[in-house]
Amino acid sequence: MIYLDHAATAHPRHPGVEEAMIHALHLAGSVGRGAHGGAQAASQIVASCRQRLADLLGVPDPQRMVLFPSSTLGLSTIIADLCRDPQPDAILWIGALEHNAVWRPAVRALGEERVRCLPVDGAGLVDLKALAELNPGAALGVVLQHASNVTGIIQPIEEVGAWCQQHSLPLVVDGAQSAGIVPVHLGRIDGLVAFTMAGHKHLGGPPGIGPCYLAPGYEPQPLWIGGNGVDSAHPTIPAGGPGRFESGTPNLPGIAGLEAALRKFEVDPVAARFEALSQLRQLWYQSLAPLAAVEIVGEGSSAARTPVLALQVAGIAPEQVAAELEVRTGARCRAGFHCAPLAHRHIGTLEGGGTLRIAPGLESDDLQRQQVVDALAAIASP
Ligand SMILES: Cc1ncc(COP(=O)(O)O)c(C=O)c1O
Repeated sequence: MIYLDHAATAHPRHPGVEEAMIHALHLAGSVGRGAHGGAQAASQIVASCRQRLADLLGVPDPQRMVLFPSSTLGLSTIIADLCRDPQPDAILWIGALEHNAVWRPAVRALGEERVRCLPVDGAGLVDLKALAELNPGAALGVVLQHASNVTGIIQPIEEVGAWCQQHSLPLVVDGAQSAGIVPVHLGRIDGLVAFTMAGHKHLGGPPGIGPCYLAPGYEPQPLWIGGNGVDSAHPTIPAGGPGRFESGTPNLPGIAGLEAALRKFEVDPVAARFEALSQLRQLWYQSLAPLAAVEIVGEGSSAARTPVLALQVAGIAPEQVAAELEVRTGARCRAGFHCAPLAHRHIGTLEGGGTLRIAPGLESDDLQRQQVVDALAAIASP
């Protein structure tokens, strides 16, 4: 098996994840439910997970790290809050390559017409010159993906944040594809109110946890409420703290798994991973570019990228290429629209059935890359 689907989920998970999850299953206690030993041990795991996330992302207060069950739920919560009771002319600005986790909640709240795309270049990179001249109108905010799950392109979130601040607009960043591999210092991004993540992707944890940074002073309405173990005698959810968004028994094994996964960053810092993964992408690009019948789509911009490449093979549907590639080499990659039809519309691949996505990780070696490239060449020119 050659794993080329890191943009979907991590494999292998970071060291210690499995053991930590099993340990959590045996704890005999639940987070914030009671004062006995098991409950306290569970709460300590949660506190440590928040602390590790805060340290990783440059956040001074770990209480600003919410543990949603997924990045999708974090985004749905925040977008629903931004778009609550909108004026008739209110609009929301988003990027050109957004995932359905952003696009669908935005369209549900406002309708397609009022979800507007920031000015971008042909690759979907925000055009900062055009942005400087943009009149935001009656905007409720900006929701922008940090890195694309289709082409890997990385958006200039700091500069977009400065523009948001200038216009008093909240900036929400979808960091599902960047957290853990693109260095960020969230406390220093102007205008940023929220940064959502997927614990199971480049953070190396299990599915079921979507950490989210909420900036100090930004207190959206939770999407769901119920018991969270705090102020239980009151009819309303307490006003502050991350527990406000975590009603219901938390997924302790998932949180414990993520907590263990985050330990890896102590010995393998994000900046070094970014460097190594940028080189890896370059190697894949150089190996694939000479193949005449294979097009690498959505490039054409000098922006930095995560190791995600979007391919089309002339005359063959991406799904078919993926299936043949797996038969020939054992490679696992995802073909189609990757839950991001906006991105495919922008790079011109909506009609052709999307793309074949190659998302390698550092465990893949030169020989595996060569096997995949040779197989693609054979599939493209039988
Ligand atoms: C850019 C982007 N945003 C959001 C999501 C949603 O993440 P999850 O499915 O873990 O909630 C994904 C998942 O693929 C993604 O790639």
